[in-house]
Amino acid sequence: MEILPLTGEPLKAALPALAELRIAVFREWPYLYEGTLEYEAKYLEKFAAANDAFIVAAKDKDKIVGVATASPLLGHADAFAKPFAEKGYDPAKVFYFGESVLRPEYRGRGIGHAFFDAREKHARAIGKFEIVSFCGVVRDAADPRKPKDYWPLDGFWNKRGFHKAEGLSAEFDWKEIGGKEVNHTMQFWIKPL
Ligand SMILES: CC(C)(COP(=O)(O)OP(=O)(O)OC[C@H]1O[C@@H](n2cnc3c(N)ncnc32)[C@H](O)[C@@H]1OP(=O)(O)O)[C@@H](O)C(=O)NCCC(=O)NCCS
Repeated sequence: MEILPLTGEPLKAALPALAELRIAVFREWPYLYEGTLEYEAKYLEKFAAANDAFIVAAKDKDKIVGVATASPLLGHADAFAKPFAEKGYDPAKVFYFGESVLRPEYRGRGIGHAFFDAREKHARAIGKFEIVSFCGVVRDAADPRKPKDYWPLDGFWNKRGFHKAEGLSAEFDWKEIGGKEVNHTMQFWIKPL
């Protein structure tokens, strides 16, 4: 396995793999996202155009099997920066971790940790960020769609030094499996750099 930090052209070359991984992995609980390559292409084009955009990819031989992304919060939807400003944070000082998506058969081997290490290192190297952050979807614990063997990531995130930022959330719509557009609350987690 190789863990590869990517920026510039190599980052752009990894976008189709990232789109496929997002669609495959986010179909699972808790996201249940009915992704399309068309939406992904638009979303990822915007991500790749941001200054300081960063990807860390996990490669098995020639195949990308996992990817994590990061870029400045201000390059994302306004709905993401607004709650930070309202809570007294300077959105320009926040480096945002967009997603971590790893094929299930590669999980539990430390790649998730490597994804955080690489993104935090990149954020520190840029030198202008004070906080790293990501968000996770809020789901009802009693939702019948939740798989019995689902392992929540909260403990992992706490161990990485992140905490749930109370009152810091955004609303985001996406099409769930089955085709209905659904509004979701996204809870932000933060960590001082
Ligand atoms: C998030 C994700 C990339 C983590 O990847 P990973 O490579 O499995 O993580 P690691 O192997 O580094 O494990 C991290 C920690 O969680 C623990 N862990 C991971 N999966 C576990 C499971 N199913 N059961 C018990 N513990 C588990 C590991 O033991 C490790 O704990 P440790 O630090 O005490 O050793 C992966 O789970 C994933 O792609 N999930 C689906 C997408 C998602 O929800 N992404 C996050 C939001 S964008």
